[in-house]
Amino acid sequence: MHGGRILLSYIKVWVILLLLSATFQNSKLAAKNTAQDKKRKLAAENSGFISIDCGAEADYLDGDTGITYKTDKDFISTGKNKVVAPEYNLTTPYYGNMANSLRTFPEGKRNCYTLKPRQGKNQNYYVRAFFYYGNYDSENQTQIKFDLYIGVNHWTTVVDMQWTYYEIIHYSVTDTIYVCLVNTGFGVPFINGLDLRFMNDSPYRSMNGSLIPKVLADLGGLDPTLGATQRYKDDVYDRIWRLDVNLNHSVSISTETNIDIQGSDDPCRLPVEVLRTAVQPWNGLNSLSYKKSLRHRENFTPEFLVFFHFAEIEQIAPGKRREFTITLNGLNYGPFTLEYLKPLTIGPYKIQVPEDQIRFSIDATLRSNLPPILNAFEIFELGPLPDSPTNQTDVHAIMAIKEAYKIDRVNWQGDPCLPLTTWTGLQCNDDNPPRIISLNLSSSQLSGNIAVSFLNLTAIKSLDLSNNELTGTVPEAFAQLPHLTILDLSGNKLTGAVPYSLKEKSNSRQLQLSLDGNLDLCKMDTCEKKKRSFPVLVIAFVISVSALLLLNIITIFWRFKIGRLNVSLSSSVGFSRKKNSMKSKNQPFTYPEIVSITNNFQTIIGEGGFGKVYLGNLQDGRQVAVKLLSQSSRQGYKEFLAEVQLLMIVHHRNLVSLVGYCNEQENMALVYEYMANGNLKEQLLENSTNMLNWRARLQIAVDAAQGLEYLHNGCRPPIVHRDLKSSNILLTENLQAKISDFGLSKAFATEGDSHVITIPAGTPGYIDPEFRDSGNLNKKSDVYSFGILLCELITGQPPLIRGHNGHTHILQWVSPLVERGDIQSIIDPKLKGEFNTNCAWKALEIVLSCVPPTSTQRPDMSDILGELKECLAMEMSSEMSMRGSVEMSLVLRTDMAPNLR
Ligand SMILES: *[C@@H]1O[C@H](CO)[C@@H](O)[C@H](O)[C@H]1NC(C)=O
Ligand SMILES: *[C@@H]1O[C@H](CO)[C@@H](O)[C@H](O)[C@H]1NC(C)=O
Ligand SMILES: *[C@@H]1O[C@H](CO)[C@@H](O)[C@H](O)[C@H]1NC(C)=O
Ligand SMILES: *[C@@H]1O[C@H](CO)[C@@H](O)[C@H](O)[C@H]1NC(C)=O
Ligand SMILES: *[C@@H]1O[C@H](CO)[C@@H](O)[C@H](O)[C@H]1NC(C)=O
Ligand SMILES: *[C@@H]1O[C@H](CO)[C@@H](O)[C@H](O)[C@H]1NC(C)=O
Ligand SMILES: *[C@@H]1O[C@H](CO)[C@@H](O)[C@H](O)[C@H]1NC(C)=O
Repeated sequence: MHGGRILLSYIKVWVILLLLSATFQNSKLAAKNTAQDKKRKLAAENSGFISIDCGAEADYLDGDTGITYKTDKDFISTGKNKVVAPEYNLTTPYYGNMANSLRTFPEGKRNCYTLKPRQGKNQNYYVRAFFYYGNYDSENQTQIKFDLYIGVNHWTTVVDMQWTYYEIIHYSVTDTIYVCLVNTGFGVPFINGLDLRFMNDSPYRSMNGSLIPKVLADLGGLDPTLGATQRYKDDVYDRIWRLDVNLNHSVSISTETNIDIQGSDDPCRLPVEVLRTAVQPWNGLNSLSYKKSLRHRENFTPEFLVFFHFAEIEQIAPGKRREFTITLNGLNYGPFTLEYLKPLTIGPYKIQVPEDQIRFSIDATLRSNLPPILNAFEIFELGPLPDSPTNQTDVHAIMAIKEAYKIDRVNWQGDPCLPLTTWTGLQCNDDNPPRIISLNLSSSQLSGNIAVSFLNLTAIKSLDLSNNELTGTVPEAFAQLPHLTILDLSGNKLTGAVPYSLKEKSNSRQLQLSLDGNLDLCKMDTCEKKKRSFPVLVIAFVISVSALLLLNIITIFWRFKIGRLNVSLSSSVGFSRKKNSMKSKNQPFTYPEIVSITNNFQTIIGEGGFGKVYLGNLQDGRQVAVKLLSQSSRQGYKEFLAEVQLLMIVHHRNLVSLVGYCNEQENMALVYEYMANGNLKEQLLENSTNMLNWRARLQIAVDAAQGLEYLHNGCRPPIVHRDLKSSNILLTENLQAKISDFGLSKAFATEGDSHVITIPAGTPGYIDPEFRDSGNLNKKSDVYSFGILLCELITGQPPLIRGHNGHTHILQWVSPLVERGDIQSIIDPKLKGEFNTNCAWKALEIVLSCVPPTSTQRPDMSDILGELKECLAMEMSSEMSMRGSVEMSLVLRTDMAPNLR
């Protein structure tokens, strides 16, 4: 083992050494062999190229330049391919191929190419766009005019319909560079070619603006009428050098010797061919001069960058000297001297040109006995980048949304906000950078969950996702979007509960919330109440009432006086209530006592919407669960009240019991008996540790039925629980079940009474359909929920079964199986067939009896309890007959006595 590892590290070191030496040798070789070096460099530089022949049918390798031109299909999805009219077919070398096809954009105001250079943001890129109308549409047009944008800023207005190109050195603050053609109402925009070249860390840069090439003059070159051009591969940046720039009274000189561009560190990396030629003044003159008027953008005093490029191409005889100064728009620089065949760039000089004119002269100094020369020069205008792209957090979010829902809108391209907000359904503010403030994706066939990306649109004010196929829950985090005032989620298939915080915002009119038409969405107050199931039983609620209020409640409830009710089943007799139990049971604790009970809140056993739950030990050794009201959460105030009201008065072995409470203003806590086996929902889960066997399940059903029966019939006035569900059934160490969570409970004035409740409540899947539809609440609503709970116990399925197409209600799932008589498929497979079939059918019958849509058709809890007990007895007798035991009746009796504490 160890030896292997050491061997492995040896191998690693060895490989690294090998690689290092290879690199070393490579670099030595490369230094010797410039051709190879050049090739390697070209390959590297080519990777910074994006070359698009717009409208081309296929990718191709351009023979003149060695550049591979791509079609534009991966860079834009809109527009149409066209070719120029045959009589306009261009045969220009270097660009002929690119010129003769194009893409036009008859649709949409703004169409954008998306360029994603590997080098990413905060870099300079040389971008060039080519245009050639060539009567592609046979309309003989001469007046086409449209705008070209780079990123979100105006680059130029394209007007010249002859073969023309526009260049810019663009500093990109984003990873993606958009080149957009904007229709300004003067004809259909089109484009023939698009080049992007990564400029490395060249001196051609302006950190906060663009450089627009004005003059790139290769002086003293070949006869300009030949139209020859210097380009890649001679120029590593693929600049296009002009040969037709003339200086007054100058003559060309040139050399055949190579310029030592390798040996120089000239950052401008001029091509050898450009440096091999130069101009010098006519014989006898000592000065070269140049003057150019430059049109510039309106309302803007332009700044220019000027570069002068030199290389001595004559061997200077001894005693001779070439020395010169540069005067640029009145400012003097120099003197400068040159080295033979060594490139030298002077500049860049930044000048303001209020009078729109650039002038320079290059003059021999007095010491110089040779005239000045100039090999090349460049003039760039510094263009502003006044507009910033849309906030990138917003951009990433909207792009993720576009991707997630496959939104295919023609004008969803380029930056979402600029130039011009052209994205349908989207609005931005005028900030710089702009933010997305409104998004309307109504009726856009969105499906799946609500993407978290929506929550990253932190400036959004209005979000309309109505009439789509959205499923899943409503993210609570919508409430955290500070500016959101309109949220329309209506007409979707959302499920689960509406987050409390959203409802609160809606109630306080900070948010216009629309949720209509989501049939399975629970809009009630309490759905979200128990998001988490507690590992251990505890219910606790926030005590935000003053002690006085508490007292009031107690007094009121005292008057209701929980009484005993005779019920039909003999087994149910024996309910009674000790009058003084309340005082003795619900002892007040001081906060220091709470601290001591929980050993300074050492062990957290649960956490819910209202605070954390801690394990505690009373002095008598009893374990308790202590729910501490978190300061921030006052959410369950009403529920808390209801819970306290009930538990102060009602006691039953199948209802969870309150041990005490602490009510010291800031510190409020409820102390419950500790339920070692957590809740039923957890126990039914696939991966639960102790699997509940069939008999235990029946026992739990009987326990829960007893607790509920007591609430309905043993209390006067009767109490409707309203939120019966598996997570509210808690289990002791011995799997005795107790109903918890009375926060929604409702006491009725008289037996047989019913209430119309305007705000529905409950948990999806368990809610009585009649109550949901009519708001008519009575005991039978609990019976329905109990039926679902029992079905859950039998099948091991949750009330809402998650499937591919959303949720299936457990009854929809079970009904066809019942019809087919397929009991094996119905009963929880985790039981591995270990159950009594007769008993299972009986239990299913009970379920079905509980869930008719009309509440009057449902039996009373006392009848259900009777049936369940029969069922349990049946199971036990079959178990016992297997074991040969005869003590059934005895067991039954002790097991079933509805003891009251
Ligand atoms: C246009 O010129 C190219 C060469 O540049 C040639 O391949 C092509 O066939 C010509 N097209 C037409 C329609 O003449
Ligand atoms: C374009 O010009 C040609 C030749 O001048 C002419 O035959 C043709 O009708 C013109 N087309 C249009 C649409 O004006
Ligand atoms: C160059 O010559 C032209 C005409 O020959 C003249 O108008 C211009 O002013 C001259 N430029 C300089 C810088 O002397
Ligand atoms: C660029 O920044 C410099 C200073 O950092 C500022 O003076 C100049 O005006 C800016 N130019 C543009 C085009 O924003
Ligand atoms: C974009 O918005 C986010 C969230 O408001 C903010 O944190 C970030 O600074 C913004 N980015 C820019 C470039 O303004
Ligand atoms: C969203 O668009 C739809 C239809 O285009 C329109 O009816 C609805 O009012 C818009 N929503 C908002 C919030 O403006
Ligand atoms: C939301 O924004 C955060 C921070 O900008 C980012 O880490 C996260 O990936 C974004 N999430 C989505 C879904 O866009």
